[in-house]
Amino acid sequence: MSEEIFDLVVIGAGPGGYVAAIRAAQLGMKVAVVEKRSAMGGVCLNEGCIPSKALLDSSELFHLARDRFAHHGIEVAPPTIDVGRMMSRKEDVVKKLTDGIAFLFKKNGISSFAGEGRLAGADGNGVHRVEVKGDSPATVSAHKVLVATGSEAVEIPALPFDGESVVSAREALSFPAVPEHLLVVGGGYIGLELGSVWLRLGARVTVVEMLPRLVAGSDGQVADGLMRSLKKQGMEFVMQAKVAGVEKRDGKLVARVETEGGNQEIECDKILVAVGRKPLTAGLGIEELGIRLDRGRVVVDGEYQTNVPGIYAIGDLIAGPMLAHKASEEGVVCVERMKGEPSLVDYGCIPGVCYTWPEAASVGKTEEALKEEGVEYKAGRFNFMGNGRAKCMDETDGFVKVLAEKEGGRVLGIHILGPRASDMIAEAVAVMSFGGSAEDIALTVHAHPTLSEALREAALDVDKKAIHA
Ligand code: NAI
Repeated sequence: MSEEIFDLVVIGAGPGGYVAAIRAAQLGMKVAVVEKRSAMGGVCLNEGCIPSKALLDSSELFHLARDRFAHHGIEVAPPTIDVGRMMSRKEDVVKKLTDGIAFLFKKNGISSFAGEGRLAGADGNGVHRVEVKGDSPATVSAHKVLVATGSEAVEIPALPFDGESVVSAREALSFPAVPEHLLVVGGGYIGLELGSVWLRLGARVTVVEMLPRLVAGSDGQVADGLMRSLKKQGMEFVMQAKVAGVEKRDGKLVARVETEGGNQEIECDKILVAVGRKPLTAGLGIEELGIRLDRGRVVVDGEYQTNVPGIYAIGDLIAGPMLAHKASEEGVVCVERMKGEPSLVDYGCIPGVCYTWPEAASVGKTEEALKEEGVEYKAGRFNFMGNGRAKCMDETDGFVKVLAEKEGGRVLGIHILGPRASDMIAEAVAVMSFGGSAEDIALTVHAHPTLSEALREAALDVDKKAIHA
């Protein structure tokens, strides 16, 4: 029997790889996927985006029942938490979604290989081989290989992960009980989202951040507003600080924190280190094959092809923000381009969302970036305080900011701090993707009363025409 040769083998079934595999199968390719986890979906579904959102939603409900119901005239006995049940609901959500991917693989005729994939070179005909290490070792042959192995948490040498006391997001998504005091190192996406979960569930949460502001790279006013809101909720911050080390004392952890104003010790029960992620390239055979890296990231061309013909890479492995939707988009575009379609990722229109409360969502340029680039722009802003629906919801923290070209009014960036900003940003992305202007948003009828009216008012404010400002 002749050896089976696939058109494409994808290494890694995260949001980049699994989406690419399905799209490739839809396009008629014979596709195999190599995945080392027992469940599909990668970090995003198993220990990232999905479980964190499940816990953010559960903890938000608890917080509402405990702190906000009475304001709406609803009296309930003080609620209690069953962390075990909360965790099993989260796991159930994850399982349904990861099973869903396995189902889609079957439906699309995709072959799955369980184990760790490693690039093992190509034969004289340019057929690539991927070795699969696992319970059923195998070698998969394919004309093209797409590497989509994602990233892993960065470790701080002074604070090595021990899986118990000093942990990454993986463990912080599964604490068996609410810690008394959680120290979070890094005021970025993971730190603020998981810090919010445990804060709402009753932990004291202190965030130690190296920079003078949160969520590096975000709009400055959004970052400041978010910090104010989180402080109101009880989150504590030590800014421009680093943790230099940790020791155990009387059953507690004591972190040595270095700040510009001097050093301090912080006693806590758990330390979540969330200082960024790095591409997962080790053990893939990347160096052996001479695949080019730039500061740890795989270098690819416009087709997502590496310098080794037939080997492609997407997602967290390559340049750009480490976001699930960016990886998925690249996966689709990569395989469509393999088939000669003129697909492109619009890198100027990739939204970013921090799922705190209020949520922070943005797309396009920040005001800081426009100033730095010397671009002439107009800004419009509208506070949720003036939005009827936000008042009904009792969620008036935050604002919408629209940045538009001075001449012509084309939208350059939209930044939202507020309730359900994660959903509202979709309109901003759509308008920007079509090259739309602030006036296009302003001339669009928005249902009343909705939160989205705040976006329209901010767009009107670009030309100082907001009605409710
Ligand atoms: P991040 O890059 O968002 O934030 C890391 C923060 O840690 C930065 O503010 C940085 O200044 C700070 N930092 C770095 N070294 C430090 C040190 N030694 N001491 C104190 N602070 C330090 O990284 P994070 O939160 O770990 O997330 C990793 C990746 O996952 C991000 O690239 C993000 O794109 C992605 N992610 C996205 C989410 C979303 O879209 N909602 C949710 C979670 C993660």
